[in-house]
Amino acid sequence: MKSFFVLFFILLFNSFLYAVDDENCLLCHKYRTLSRIDENGKTRLYYVNDELFHKSVHGKIKCKECHSQITKIPHEENTKVNCLNECHIVEPSSEKRFSHKKVQEVLMNSIHNPKNKYVNYRDERDFPDCIDCHNNPLFRPIQIFKDVTEEGLSEKALARCRLCHKEEKFVKYFYNHVSHRLHNSKNSAEIVRMCNKCHGKEEMATKHKLVNAVATYSDTFHGKAVTFGYDSAPDCIDCHVKENESAHAIRSYEDPKSAVYEKNRWKTCAKKMCHPDATPGLGEVRMHVVINKDLYKPEYYTALGFTCLTLGAYLPLALILVLELIREIFPNLSFRRKRRK
Ligand code: HEC
Ligand code: HEC
Ligand code: HEC
Ligand code: HEC
Ligand code: HEC
Ligand code: HEC
Repeated sequence: MKSFFVLFFILLFNSFLYAVDDENCLLCHKYRTLSRIDENGKTRLYYVNDELFHKSVHGKIKCKECHSQITKIPHEENTKVNCLNECHIVEPSSEKRFSHKKVQEVLMNSIHNPKNKYVNYRDERDFPDCIDCHNNPLFRPIQIFKDVTEEGLSEKALARCRLCHKEEKFVKYFYNHVSHRLHNSKNSAEIVRMCNKCHGKEEMATKHKLVNAVATYSDTFHGKAVTFGYDSAPDCIDCHVKENESAHAIRSYEDPKSAVYEKNRWKTCAKKMCHPDATPGLGEVRMHVVINKDLYKPEYYTALGFTCLTLGAYLPLALILVLELIREIFPNLSFRRKRRK
């Protein structure tokens, strides 16, 4: 019924009716005001920005290849997108129809599969789905206004392709395709935000017998560097995934295959960009340290020692400064009674 009203609204602005063909989704979804308030009181925006959509990584995919449950108008509610759908695009080296099933396989071999043997607490609802980590701003149209960045086209590099390839569209498309995948598409701060959704929540950490990984990370030099905008400092993926593996191959630190398993750790630190001279000793440095006497004794006493040292030096100094200030303002102040002449 609700959708009927929204529909009615659109038709008011659309003085004549188009024949609604399968893929003519933007006929309705191009309207910025296409929205409603759902049963839970949340505003849902159904607007899709055509230009941004067609520039995005999924720009060549038809709406219905993802929204396969949308079969009629008005649509049925609460349709879900399955990222493992096959689409019409053919991957050229295998000539098979493309899907993200390979990513799913890696994910299923990682700690983010509730069935992984190193999981502490198996509650399926707590485990990330593709959409939990990949909040593509185009899927969430409200965010498109603040979160969309230009793809990294380097004019200098493009000029080299143009020497031989004359068609601008060809050059841009292939350059984009390759360069987009050569480097990380998300910067460190974005990765931290991605994981923060779950690993920054105290109740989730307690439930799964983990430390608050984001808070403890933010206390380290690495975390502070990222907070202050230094992008080469390591983020969660740099440490938790081995160098030549997919970003989805995150494993428990107790898993001998993990990049942060006790015996592998120093090799992870020794990445070329990081600490190339690292020795096994560096791997003993703990990364997610909570100041807790029972869990991390040496760290606890070091922190306690430094706190005492800081306060021990600072408090007497502050006292002297205050006394001096009082003398400056009231040069004749004295608590002794003046003798009468
Ligand atoms: C005649 C107008 C119209 C056309 C054409 C149309 N939509 Fe919609 N769509 C709507 C309206 C109105 C809503 C809001 C529905 C509601 O309030 O429940 C909506 C909602 C949606 C939703 C959210 C559904 C949910 O989970 O609540 C999706 C996804 C969607 N449309 C995709 C599509 C796709 C894909 C196509 C093309 C195949 C399409 N739409 C074509 C009008 C249209
Ligand atoms: C690559 C797959 C993909 C393609 C292609 C795609 N979408 Fe989506 N779309 C999604 C996902 C994923 C969501 C988020 C759904 C969720 O949170 O459950 C979404 C969300 C939406 C929503 C908001 C629904 C809501 O419940 O808030 C609308 C409307 C929508 N898409 C319409 C379209 C239209 C129109 C097109 C074609 C121009 C399109 N989509 C193309 C994957 C896709
Ligand atoms: C939707 C929630 C969610 C998101 C988002 C998420 N995780 Fe997890 N993560 C979990 C759950 C649940 C576990 C399993 C906890 C357990 O063992 O019970 C887990 C486990 C882990 C572990 C293993 C901890 C151990 O036992 O050693 C690591 C490492 C990890 N996640 C890293 C990440 C990183 C890095 C990101 C961001 C790219 C991320 N996670 C995003 C839910 C999430
Ligand atoms: C725990 C969080 C997490 C989950 C869950 C997740 N991804 Fe990813 N994904 C990432 C990170 C981190 C990257 C690397 C981003 C970068 O390069 O900047 C990535 C990259 C990708 C890439 C680019 C290619 C690559 O491997 O670098 C694709 C495609 C992708 N993910 C698809 C998926 C699909 C499909 C799913 C669901 C089956 C999924 N992801 C689930 C975190 C996640
Ligand atoms: C020195 C000339 C030259 C330069 C510079 C050059 N290319 Fe090419 N490129 C070629 C030739 C010749 C072919 C055909 C090769 C073949 O078929 O074996 C080709 C093929 C390709 C193909 C494969 C097309 C297909 O359908 O098989 C792509 C993609 C491509 N180039 C992209 C680029 C990009 C992107 C750049 C810039 C970074 C670039 N090229 C720079 C000469 C060049
Ligand atoms: C500099 C490398 C490094 C970075 C960056 C890093 N980790 Fe870790 N992580 C480790 C190591 C090493 C361990 C093994 C346990 C320890 O040392 O505390 C670990 C353990 C974990 C654990 C299990 C901790 C426990 O004992 O409960 C989780 C969950 C985790 N990391 C998630 C994350 C997330 C999320 C981020 C990003 C915010 C992140 N890590 C950033 C190196 C790192």
